Amino acid sequence: MTASRLLDEIAGVGRDRARGGYSRHAFDKVEGELRTWFAERAGRLGLDVDTDRNGNLWAWWGTPGPDAVVTGSHLDSVPGGGAFDGPLGVVSALDAVESLQGKGFVPAKPFAVVVFVEEEGGRFGVPCLGSRLMTGSLDADKARGLRDPNGVTLAEAAVQAGFDPERFGADPDALARIGRFVELHVEQGRGLIDLGAPVAVGSTVIAHGRWRFSFSGQGNHAGATLIGDRHDPMLPAAAMVAAARRLAIATGDGRATVGRLVPVPGGTNAIASTVDLWLDARVPSGDRTRTLVGEITEAAKEAARAEGCLVAVTEESYSDTVTFDSGLRDELNARLGGVPELPTGAGHDAAILAAHVPAAMLYVRNPTGVSHSPEEFAEVDDVDHGGRALADVLEHLST
Ligand code: GLV
Ligand code: MN
Ligand code: MN
Repeated sequence: MTASRLLDEIAGVGRDRARGGYSRHAFDKVEGELRTWFAERAGRLGLDVDTDRNGNLWAWWGTPGPDAVVTGSHLDSVPGGGAFDGPLGVVSALDAVESLQGKGFVPAKPFAVVVFVEEEGGRFGVPCLGSRLMTGSLDADKARGLRDPNGVTLAEAAVQAGFDPERFGADPDALARIGRFVELHVEQGRGLIDLGAPVAVGSTVIAHGRWRFSFSGQGNHAGATLIGDRHDPMLPAAAMVAAARRLAIATGDGRATVGRLVPVPGGTNAIASTVDLWLDARVPSGDRTRTLVGEITEAAKEAARAEGCLVAVTEESYSDTVTFDSGLRDELNARLGGVPELPTGAGHDAAILAAHVPAAMLYVRNPTGVSHSPEEFAEVDDVDHGGRALADVLEHLST
């Protein structure tokens, strides 16, 4: 079944009526449905499906073993996300296996399709949760204690979904089996539109991270409290959002975003007692990312002082700049007959794996240039083109 038809099969799963688009998160009911669908689809191709200690799904073509050629992506989404970010890489992987099988190809090396858990951090806040746990770059105790917006811990959610959170943690055996990893992904930007090309090879991922800013003040009555008597944490929060934009512009090429803000108690006629917000900051170099976050933190502290409020800042995740393996990139590019190489501002499981194994990415043109939004898109022809490119490089790598 083609990648587009496979995407159609899951088009009804996890639609978010309130936000639009899809909300598919780690260990929720929707993700469970997608896991079942994946296992069923992989099973029809004769792949053997198992789940590793961190809940990542593996579908093996032939006997699992070392030096495997591995491809795949993720099935979770941001809240109200698009249909392609993640699932496109998974369906293209299944499609590639089917087309290779169709022409009688048998891989000479172990071969697997993987689905990583919670790549977006949409529920528990830390992106690339499954690959970070597997590689040991996220401490298992810290992971188990992560909470979703309703206060449910990752450990509790895992138990509810039938997983054993005590098994979470570094999985050197699973990691050691990966020889080379290739992730296909919808492009999250305008690079391929501007170049007029359907497919690119990934070059770099810029440094990025997430920081929680907790502003606290005095909750009070919106009508009865004189302006001069207030310690309203929404004021420094708003000032920090504006400072983040101003300071990001000053870097020349950095990005700073506040996409999530939670006032407590959250009543129209109540001055908030606390406001938590999350800063997503990304600059091409790690040092410059940390400098930007430092400057934004100073602006937040200054604004909090001016309102008689406090602010606490916590780093929730951080990833340094990643340059994908140049040898593997060259191999892919030679096999594809010369395609553009593109940097990205988006994080990926492939970038987490890149610190341990040769990893590469293929991007498929997104005609809207929009991602993490329902407007994210890929034309059927480009999806087919990407699927053929993926099959081609997997055949080459596993011959
Ligand atoms: C993942 O898509 C990210 O970069 O936030
Ligand atoms: Mn994403
Ligand atoms: Mn993704």
